[in-house]
Amino acid sequence: MMVIHAKHSKLKLWKSELTCVFLTKNDETNPWLNELDEIYGSLFKDLMKSREFGADEESIHVLHGNNKTKSKRIGLVGLGETKDLEWDTFRKAAAKAVKTAHAIGIEKISLIFPSHLVSEQFDESGLAQAVVEGALLADYRYDKYQTDQKAKISRLEELTLITYVSPSDRVYQGVRAAEVICDAVSFTRDLANAPGNELTPRELATRTAQMCRKNKIKIQIFDEKKLALLKMGGILGVAQGSSEPPRMIIMEYTGVKAKNRKPIVLVGKGLTFDAGGISIKPAADMDRMKFDMCGGAAVIGAMQAIAHLKLPLHVVGIVPSSENLLGSKAFKPGDVLTMYSGKTVEVLNTDAEGRLILADALAYAQKYKPEAIIDLATLTGHCVIALGYAGAGMMGNDPNVKSRLMDASKISSEKVWELPMWKEFDKQIKSHIADIKNMGGRPAGAITAAAFLKHFVGDYPWVHLDIAGTANSEEELPYTARISSTGFGVRLLVEALRKW
Ligand code: BES
Ligand code: MG
Ligand code: ZN
Repeated sequence: MMVIHAKHSKLKLWKSELTCVFLTKNDETNPWLNELDEIYGSLFKDLMKSREFGADEESIHVLHGNNKTKSKRIGLVGLGETKDLEWDTFRKAAAKAVKTAHAIGIEKISLIFPSHLVSEQFDESGLAQAVVEGALLADYRYDKYQTDQKAKISRLEELTLITYVSPSDRVYQGVRAAEVICDAVSFTRDLANAPGNELTPRELATRTAQMCRKNKIKIQIFDEKKLALLKMGGILGVAQGSSEPPRMIIMEYTGVKAKNRKPIVLVGKGLTFDAGGISIKPAADMDRMKFDMCGGAAVIGAMQAIAHLKLPLHVVGIVPSSENLLGSKAFKPGDVLTMYSGKTVEVLNTDAEGRLILADALAYAQKYKPEAIIDLATLTGHCVIALGYAGAGMMGNDPNVKSRLMDASKISSEKVWELPMWKEFDKQIKSHIADIKNMGGRPAGAITAAAFLKHFVGDYPWVHLDIAGTANSEEELPYTARISSTGFGVRLLVEALRKW
């Protein structure tokens, strides 16, 4: 576990292996410039003007210390132009510093808190949170299966945020929030990165129960017998092809002085492996379908963070979890399923399984007469075609909940973008023999998936986030390793709920 401090010091007096200073271009208000000038003289000024550093975004230049400072190394970290600053600029810059520490093999790092950049746009506590988040997210690794110790990168033991004057309560609040939230993101990432043979629906339920026990969150786990009693034909249909039984995980957190009597219900798709079923997927990259439970993992992580932060809210989390395989009992194209809600669904493609298990979870959510339902799902490849890997598709029936998520998206930098749910799309999922079919073809495939879900939310305010493109990344990102879960959704949900 990493220890995080906030301390007031001078650059010259601070003893550290690596102290990083965040710098924008033409950074005249930065109170640390004087000291940098004193320590490095013209060298520092020249670097600021040069192509060697120049304070470009995502750049870093490490200088060795000298007899004028107790820091062994000083890292100059670029933030780019002041006018272009975004919340994520700070996370990325802190991540850059941490990755540099990893590369050098340093386990303690100090980051200078850029208090001079506090503004109307960037409040002090949020800024401290963003810097610490970037550092913690970049320090995460999934290496439990690496038995060669040398292959593992060193992780940080200690992070100190250095402030120009004594750290304010707001700085401490931001640091604390970042710690709690990143703990939750790491938990989500651990669940998502776990291979399918380790993390089955039963195992997901067990780990969620452990988390809930620690955090005084109520939990119910519906096993296959209970699901059959409830006639949850969607999740049971999908699970038929596997010898691993499905689970429906239901968490309930009621904060002291909860403001809302009707809960906010979070629903997350929990396919621990999606082979596509009888409508099997191609072999290439099928391993990535262990990530098909990222929506569920994000909901579970968000529940942990909400409880740790003691938010004054009533929140329910529902995670339907199953495998989608092709055993001899597997459901087949042409089958008709009777869902928990009573609606009938013609299965045209067994690979469109996410909407089937979500349908039962969403219909069950109505039991709570919720104030709002928000679901997260790696639901369609079509959403990746529409928005790439940059943001999640947002669809739903409630402008208010959408705008809450849009606001949270701007702060968390977990991007969402709205796709229209015009009624024209509804006819694409009409069935000849049942109420609806589970596939609407290629045109607007992300939206017809949402149009399918809409049949199961009644009139409750509801927003669906298709996170197929954002839940995990092929490429290394500023604070996500390659072929790894991003934890997308946890920070977004927590930000939206903190402001609820
Ligand atoms: N889990 C997939 C969606 C997915 C695809 C997530 C790529 C991440 C990356 C989902 O179950 C699925 O297979 N959807 C189908 C639906 C189609 C058959 C209507 C798809 O997107 O092709
Ligand atoms: Mg599928
Ligand atoms: Zn799937």
